[in-house]
Amino acid sequence: MRTNDAKTRLIPAADIKEAHVPSTSAYNELVAQAEADHDGYWSRLAREFLSWRTPFTQGLDDSQAPFFKWFEDGTLNVSYNCLDRHVESGLGDKTALIFEADDGQVTRINYRALLERTCRLANALKARGVQKGDRVVIYMSMSIEGVVAMQACARIGATHSVVFGGFSAQSLRDRIHDAAAVMVITADEQVRGGKQLPLKAIVDEAIALGGCESVTNVLVYQRSGAAIGWNAARDRWLHEEMQDQPATCEPEWVGAEHPLFVLYTSGSTGKPKGVQHASGGYLLHAALTSQWTFDLKPDDVFWCTADIGWVTGHTYITYGPLALGATEVVFEGVPTYPDAGRFWKMIQDHRVSIFYTAPTAIRSLIKAAESNETVHPRRYDLSSLRILGSVGEPINPAAWEWYHQHVGGGRCPIVDTFWQTETGGHMITPLPGATPLVPGSCTLPFPGIAAAIVDETGNDVPNGQGGILVVKKPWPSMIRTIWGDPERFKSSYFPAELKGFYLAGDGAIRDADTGYFTITGRIDDVLNVSGHRMGTMEIESALVSCTALVAEAAVVGRPDDTTGEAICAFVVLKGARPSGDEARKIATELRNWVAKEIGPIAKPKDIRFGDNLPKTRSGKIMRRLLRSVAKGETVTQDISTLENPAVLEQLAQSN
Ligand code: WTA
Repeated sequence: MRTNDAKTRLIPAADIKEAHVPSTSAYNELVAQAEADHDGYWSRLAREFLSWRTPFTQGLDDSQAPFFKWFEDGTLNVSYNCLDRHVESGLGDKTALIFEADDGQVTRINYRALLERTCRLANALKARGVQKGDRVVIYMSMSIEGVVAMQACARIGATHSVVFGGFSAQSLRDRIHDAAAVMVITADEQVRGGKQLPLKAIVDEAIALGGCESVTNVLVYQRSGAAIGWNAARDRWLHEEMQDQPATCEPEWVGAEHPLFVLYTSGSTGKPKGVQHASGGYLLHAALTSQWTFDLKPDDVFWCTADIGWVTGHTYITYGPLALGATEVVFEGVPTYPDAGRFWKMIQDHRVSIFYTAPTAIRSLIKAAESNETVHPRRYDLSSLRILGSVGEPINPAAWEWYHQHVGGGRCPIVDTFWQTETGGHMITPLPGATPLVPGSCTLPFPGIAAAIVDETGNDVPNGQGGILVVKKPWPSMIRTIWGDPERFKSSYFPAELKGFYLAGDGAIRDADTGYFTITGRIDDVLNVSGHRMGTMEIESALVSCTALVAEAAVVGRPDDTTGEAICAFVVLKGARPSGDEARKIATELRNWVAKEIGPIAKPKDIRFGDNLPKTRSGKIMRRLLRSVAKGETVTQDISTLENPAVLEQLAQSN
């Protein structure tokens, strides 16, 4: 468990001119308003931040808890809120996206052009029969077209399911199948780090695996121009589909609860779950948190480095900043190409003022800068920066300090934002003009978010004592259900013993003096590798599906300096336990197998072979023990029940 070293350093809240939330007392006032009238607080903000076609008359409907509804009788359109209303208010010429390609080429698109492109694609989707409520899978890399595809779905009321471009054909197939998608939007290839990687070929492979009969059209954005396979009955070029379509498209006015998107994420058991979000409540929190957490203003240049395949890219690229009419950078490539100074150069070139990235990226860039002065942030002009953000995993105080000093010049506050795919937007985070900062702590709940720490029975634990992170009251951008599995939704997030509170799945502790939250890590079998969520069970299933080789497998996480956690797999082979070169060869084979089954992000860093796995008398794998073995710790647990204690020595050896 991460220690709560919160007392080491308290940095006063930044003195920001005309900050949206300008002081600690302003923050306290908002918290008090929400406490006094939760429904009224959120309803007021929903009226202020969103343009409604039909105003809602009721905020929260908890009559079918935990299936909460917000602003249900109101109607709106998400893409209207992100695009049209800015053009209507005279911001048509304002740059919406500054797209930088992998090779450095820059394309700017203003709000008017982004709206037109969205309308053309929306019309093209309709022309191919996509209707309100249909699911559309988007399997693309970072591009203007990716954002346009999501906005176009929102415009016609189709529910998108974006699948990260690093997932395998099998994972893509499972997601298409689960949502019974009618269309896939993809690109011929993706270009990252100077390399061309397939996308369309993987879509073809996914569909060929079977179970994707619902898909009648595959739209292909031409990114690289590479030769690709073509099925004339199904495949269409995106540019051809769009070229003759009108540049206007009446938005589909949907109810606030209409599902805007489904996004698959890992849980501790079973297959990835399709987290379903609504339209109104989600967009409210996307816009509100973009404004308050980042103090986003009209003149800012905002850059969130996440991929649209993850929730961070949904909320803080496609929806939040655009709902506010902001200017933002969208980046196709990777932080280390052509060298590890890429982020700093882009901040300099585009005069980025708000920069939002993941601790893993920072840690790897620290390493690079320490070994090569030419990519050190001090070699770049980063004076445009005023606010920094962190997301996806705990940021260790050393990385925080480096980020603060070398990227933020000691003057930019860092907002360490804790949230999840399921929460839709920030839950616990500093507000830069209001919250004194503590390195390594995500500080305090966003106003209106009833975050708390409880024990196994749902009772509050005192500050200074760790426990289970919950949210006691519903909030507008919360997950609505798991696509097609309401029972799993209830049992995963609202277990009976927790008094109806939302269970985040993380452990946390509040500092005894400040009340600040520090996230101590997942309390379930979910790993966080480079800020990507992976279920240990998913990786285990992938390993044992290699039936030619594997008899049994157990996967645990172990701390890693760069990626936060690393995947460590313990494997029992069908044949004899291998050693030396043979073990290394099989380990490589198994890594590639997992990459093929799930995607390269799920490849175990470490694979260890044993004659068997340590189990309790009742046959349960002793995971805690394996975690110690993975870390290289001396085993202190009771191993008297182990049938074969010698196996621990075998499993301690890396390959
Ligand atoms: C972890 C990403 C510590 C946490 C937005 C959570 C964090 C999971 C932080 C969600 C943070 C995210 N500090 N841990 N600031 N942000 N996490 O769904 O374990 O990909 O439950 O959403 O990431 O990951 P997800």
